Amino acid sequence: MKSVIITGGGSGLGAALAEEYAKKYKVILIGRTLNKLTLVKELVMQRGQQADCYACDVTSMEEVKRVFGQLFQQEDIHMLINNAGSGIFGPLEKFTEEDVNLLLDTNVKGTIYTTMTALPYLKDKAQGQIMNIISTAGLRGKVNESVYCASKFAVRGFTESLVKELDGTGISVTAVYMGGMDTPFWNDSDHVKDKSRFKTPEQVAAQIAAEDTGNAGEIFIDR
Ligand SMILES: NC(=O)c1ccc[n+]([C@@H]2O[C@H](COP(=O)([O-])OP(=O)(O)OC[C@H]3O[C@@H](n4cnc5c(N)ncnc54)[C@H](OP(=O)(O)O)[C@@H]3O)[C@@H](O)[C@H]2O)c1
Repeated sequence: MKSVIITGGGSGLGAALAEEYAKKYKVILIGRTLNKLTLVKELVMQRGQQADCYACDVTSMEEVKRVFGQLFQQEDIHMLINNAGSGIFGPLEKFTEEDVNLLLDTNVKGTIYTTMTALPYLKDKAQGQIMNIISTAGLRGKVNESVYCASKFAVRGFTESLVKELDGTGISVTAVYMGGMDTPFWNDSDHVKDKSRFKTPEQVAAQIAAEDTGNAGEIFIDR
């Protein structure tokens, strides 16, 4: 059975995408917290579908190389969903150097590290799909979201470039843009006062799966 790697698969949108994509793939969940990943894996397996999970910090090239190297030897990986992400919000002058590094390391470098590690294996098979979970914060600037928007604009540029670079290789690249979702993403922040108006991650995951043709392009959940 073909497999999909979902980074940040232990909560929020990643966990909801696992539920959707388990309908046609074995789902391999990646994140830093093994117990969250294990819970999602068990939920998928209780439905008679296939899942596995591995602890891996996507900000560490060393860890990504080790875990992905093992996975590509063991599994028939067809798809990589770069979903792991962090958010820190507020006026720019309140940011510390660590805040800036965390956002750029996780959202930008994490996506680049996993993709550059996966590509040689996908190119060998001349088939596969990379899906990058971006945000409407990758489409326009927003108040008190400057560093987060900078990180998501970067992932958009990375994704649009790869669409062109991988044209004709059999590997498709998909960008996904969505607005607010009611997930643990907001737990440590008072940036959003009322999450109840947001879509659930299950709604967004179902729409992504429905609109995912497997071809290169963009999926706009919100604009
Ligand atoms: N929620 C929203 O309103 C919203 C809107 C638009 C786009 N997004 C994007 O959607 C994606 C998913 O976010 P979410 O809303 O589902 O939030 P979430 O529940 O906080 O999910 C983020 C996941 O990423 C994992 N993660 C964070 N840093 C990691 C690292 N260094 N290595 C590996 N995994 C890491 C986290 O698990 P561990 O901490 O256990 O590693 C967590 O499971 C993110 O890219 C986010 O930017 C969210």
